[in-house]
Amino acid sequence: MGKALIIGAGGVAGVVVHKCCQNSDVFEEICIASRTKSKCDALKKKLDGGKTKICTEQVDADNTEELITLINKFNPDIVINVALPYQDLTIMDACLATKTDYVDTANYEPLDTAKFEYKWQWAYRERFEKAGITALLGSGFDPGVTGVFCSYAQKHYFDEIHYIDILDANAGDHGYPFATNFNPEINIREITAKGSYIENGKWIETEPLEVKKVYNFPEIGQKDIYLLHHEELESLALNINGIKRIRFFMTFSQKYLTHLNVLQNVGMTSIVPIDYEGKKIVPLQFLKAVLPDPASLGPRTKGKTNIGCIMRGVKDGVSKNYYVYNVCDHQECYKEVGSQAISYTTGVPAMIGASMVMTGKWKKPGVYNIEEFDPDPFMEALNKFGLPWKESFEPDLVD
Ligand SMILES: NC(=O)c1ccc[n+]([C@@H]2O[C@H](COP(=O)([O-])OP(=O)(O)OC[C@H]3O[C@@H](n4cnc5c(N)ncnc54)[C@H](OP(=O)(O)O)[C@@H]3O)[C@@H](O)[C@H]2O)c1
Repeated sequence: MGKALIIGAGGVAGVVVHKCCQNSDVFEEICIASRTKSKCDALKKKLDGGKTKICTEQVDADNTEELITLINKFNPDIVINVALPYQDLTIMDACLATKTDYVDTANYEPLDTAKFEYKWQWAYRERFEKAGITALLGSGFDPGVTGVFCSYAQKHYFDEIHYIDILDANAGDHGYPFATNFNPEINIREITAKGSYIENGKWIETEPLEVKKVYNFPEIGQKDIYLLHHEELESLALNINGIKRIRFFMTFSQKYLTHLNVLQNVGMTSIVPIDYEGKKIVPLQFLKAVLPDPASLGPRTKGKTNIGCIMRGVKDGVSKNYYVYNVCDHQECYKEVGSQAISYTTGVPAMIGASMVMTGKWKKPGVYNIEEFDPDPFMEALNKFGLPWKESFEPDLVD
């Protein structure tokens, strides 16, 4: 069918590459391009020889001109951005210049402000429309599958969805006292920021990790969950009918939070540069350098994740509850693609989102969040490519 340029060669990119190779009818050729070319070459070495042709390139994705040169050279049908959120806009600019479709898994964040918002990427809508190209934003798990879950519920089960709670549980244990399951810098910026949720059309802000609840997860058991700000709240509140309140919760163990508190108290999670022996360093970036690489957690992580959405609303005037979720086993992921479940649950939907655009099912000029497309083919693909989902019509509610 076509060619995809994959930017980034970290934990998530590794899964995307594996999954593109499993879907070689769609992904006939891929190019893996990242800052450190040896990581791209290592991925190629692992997966070369199958039906999908693989090449690698070095690229600085902060540099639009370099990206344009690379896109013109490889001539892909789509760019799959699994580098960092800081590169979203330069990559979108390069896609515009070359009229190439675009997909990512995380919304743009400026380096110096730990706040994710869609306004920067939504500002590209008209230009993408005029160029006749599609940008699919947030095609990971959360954001990503969580948005597809909501639009699936809206399409099949509800006239209006009044309350959505997105629950992200990771019951995996990697055996380290402290490590993050994806890019530590992005992860810690997200967790140490203020929490927020939307109620009656307004953002309500909370102190970081101020709101704690307990939830009994299917297949995982009882866990502490904490309210976080999360990017899909912003788009789902606009795209799902009838929303009165939408919140996002994530599990953290006491051990994790104790370490995080200490790191925060001593200033190690700050993103404000400091002078160290005549050199400017960002404490959080230094911390990233000493923490375990998330891509190395695969062989050590045991246990499962459970991510899903609990919805309450009405259908034909009758109140209704609905919970849809996926349970993913870290060790099974490692057996299949050599990575833990956090990278897996992000990389599989990134490949599926790209395939939706490439096969024309989701081809629509403009910039879109994932819940704006027909959820059915994506839900089918989740079952086929390793993220089967389950439903319950009588779930426990968060409160
Ligand atoms: N939606 C979701 O559910 C979800 C969940 C988890 C993660 N994510 C997102 O997925 C993305 C990838 O996460 P990850 O855990 O795979 O991160 P990672 O392991 O740190 O990988 C990031 C990759 O991007 C490359 N990169 C960074 N800056 C670059 C630049 N300027 N030019 C070219 N390449 C650059 C890095 O290169 P080096 O190897 O040289 O450092 C690395 O290969 C992030 O945006 C993250 O926020 C989304």
